[in-house]
Amino acid sequence: MLKIAVLVSGGGTNLQAIMDAIDAGKIHNTEISVVISNNPGAYALERAKNKGIEAVCISPKDYDTRDEFNGEFLRKLDTYQVDLVVLAGFLVVIPPEMIASYRNRIINIHPSLIPSFCGTGYYGLKVHEGVLERGVKVTGATVHFVDEGTDTGPIILQKSVEVQQGDTPKALQQRVMEQAEWQILPQAIDLIAAGKVSVVDGKAVIAD
Ligand code: GAR
Repeated sequence: MLKIAVLVSGGGTNLQAIMDAIDAGKIHNTEISVVISNNPGAYALERAKNKGIEAVCISPKDYDTRDEFNGEFLRKLDTYQVDLVVLAGFLVVIPPEMIASYRNRIINIHPSLIPSFCGTGYYGLKVHEGVLERGVKVTGATVHFVDEGTDTGPIILQKSVEVQQGDTPKALQQRVMEQAEWQILPQAIDLIAAGKVSVVDGKAVIAD
């Protein structure tokens, strides 16, 4: 059984997609041990509680220094002894000590086709604003392992989505979620649960 922690900051539609995929038998052999948010008001915490999943909040705002927060954040995560950490719209920078101790065991969903529209400053709606500003015709989403950079880790899955004439950032965000994110994030977790994903020479490789 793959035990996962899902880290969230906002609405939690990707968390919902994971919970629904587990219920529907599309993600096998996996249980959510805990949902962690930095934001006490995150609706994602309600989604977890409604499902009877432990929901906890840890905010950098409650600590005097970033180091103190980072230490406590890692200690809290460690208590759940999870196999995989899933960043599902988690907007806090992952402490380097957490990345080191969960090497190739943290995945993130990003709402663009990396390496486009990613890195510092590209999160949430800002990604889709950037896409529309540049006028690209195809965007999408990426699931990748988390390394020390911002959106630089090995890419596991990507799915493209067409940009349409007259799209607003919100309309495009919704289409990218529906057509890409809510599909490839559960799919990646299922592949990892099946032991099919490895990292070779800095690249994710998926077994048949
Ligand atoms: C999602 O679109 C996710 O890809 C994005 O935040 C949104 C969270 O929505 N993540 C990032 O931009 C990370 N750089 P949700 O709370 O409804 O799942």
